[in-house]
Amino acid sequence: MTTPMKTKVGIIGGGPSGLLLSQLLHLKGIDNVLLEKHSRDYVLGRIRAGVLEHGFAELMREAQCGERMDREGEIHDGFYIAHDGIRDRVDLKKYTGGNSVVVYGQTEVTRDLYEARDKMGGTVIHEAQDVTPHDLKSDAPYLTYRLGDEPHRVDCDFIIGADGFHGVSRKSIPKDVLTEYEKVYPFGWLGVLSRTKPVSPELIYAKHERGFALCSLRSQVLSRYYLQVPLTDRVEDWSDEDFWAELKKRLPEDVAGDLITGPSIEKSIAPLRSFVAEPMRYGNLFLAGDAAHIVPPTGARGLNSAASDIYYLYHALLDHYQDGDDTGLEQYSQKALARVWKAQRFSWWMTSLLHTFPDSISYDKRLQQTDLEYLFSSDAAQTSLAENYVGLPF
Ligand code: FAD
Ligand code: DHB
Repeated sequence: MTTPMKTKVGIIGGGPSGLLLSQLLHLKGIDNVLLEKHSRDYVLGRIRAGVLEHGFAELMREAQCGERMDREGEIHDGFYIAHDGIRDRVDLKKYTGGNSVVVYGQTEVTRDLYEARDKMGGTVIHEAQDVTPHDLKSDAPYLTYRLGDEPHRVDCDFIIGADGFHGVSRKSIPKDVLTEYEKVYPFGWLGVLSRTKPVSPELIYAKHERGFALCSLRSQVLSRYYLQVPLTDRVEDWSDEDFWAELKKRLPEDVAGDLITGPSIEKSIAPLRSFVAEPMRYGNLFLAGDAAHIVPPTGARGLNSAASDIYYLYHALLDHYQDGDDTGLEQYSQKALARVWKAQRFSWWMTSLLHTFPDSISYDKRLQQTDLEYLFSSDAAQTSLAENYVGLPF
């Protein structure tokens, strides 16, 4: 074992949650060490979120990482819901009193955060194997990990579990302490990234009896499309030709006619799941982001829910180190979960509204139809959708 490192905050996971917290803390002089299991290229190769809410964008700016996002990201004031061969627009700006979202890929967010950590000389350790948190109930918790064959140890005041759904942090909380709520959906999303002009300048969420489809984008030359697929499908089952043909069938005719196709540069399937683990604190371990909660991607809430956890944690840690005030740390789990559950409700609702459920009966289908009709006939319903989509206040 090499000489133990000593830091204030040990962070597990180099996804957006861990990196953002690491950067924010460092800017306030709070020393931290981040351990990531994979290589940087691997992390940057994952294509995930594309829509950032205002609060997330603000946090990126506070982390001094907002420059490229502000230059290259696109402000979107609305999006479409396609159904029954037509498109209805949700006017985010109108129904939120001027709020909007930023279209900027998670890959770019992560890249900007890594660059900022490099510039500040932050300690980000990649390919850290067998990361294990210890003595979580004590005032001196620590982390062990391996780099190659060499064992290492980091002593800290607090450990942040920002290691995603499959990480080690949540699993290190005793089972009798944790309550897990889970809902698994009987389908996944097949995503394709292609260097083509997006079919629409604004996102289109398409409800179709063949299954849901989403037309999204990363820029005006980079498109991101998704199809609802059965859980049994594998990426290899879908040629590019099959993907484009199926997407066209699920879009209104005028949209399908405008679709520009091209070779896929990434193709992957993500299962859909709703999940919450309570509480989000165990001793001096604090969970954040996908480590504690997952939503189906339909409402674009996942990364944004991670950001609100980081906001609460960051301020709680600042209060602890700057003012000796532990109220924020004590209230973290309760505060974070209150917002997390609202994102759960919204994501479940968007998913239920727009997907085709294999076991749905005719009654369910009529209700789904009625929900849509009500939505576009009611300012109150559109206000509710819009305020949730742009993100509830932290
Ligand atoms: P992660 O991004 O999962 O990062 C966790 C990190 O921890 C990873 O780098 C992992 O390698 C590392 N790690 C894991 N185990 C260990 C270990 N034992 N030791 C050390 N490190 C470990 N959200 C939105 O808000 N808007 C969207 O538009 C959106 N679209 C999405 C589309 C798709 C197809 C998918 C799959 C997700 C989407 N999301 C969206 C969700 C969003 O991507 C996640 O919520 C987000 O990645 C969570 O960030 P995180 O940092 O908490 O976790
Ligand atoms: C994207 C993903 C989503 O889940 C969503 O709701 C909107 C956009 C995307 O990857 O572009």
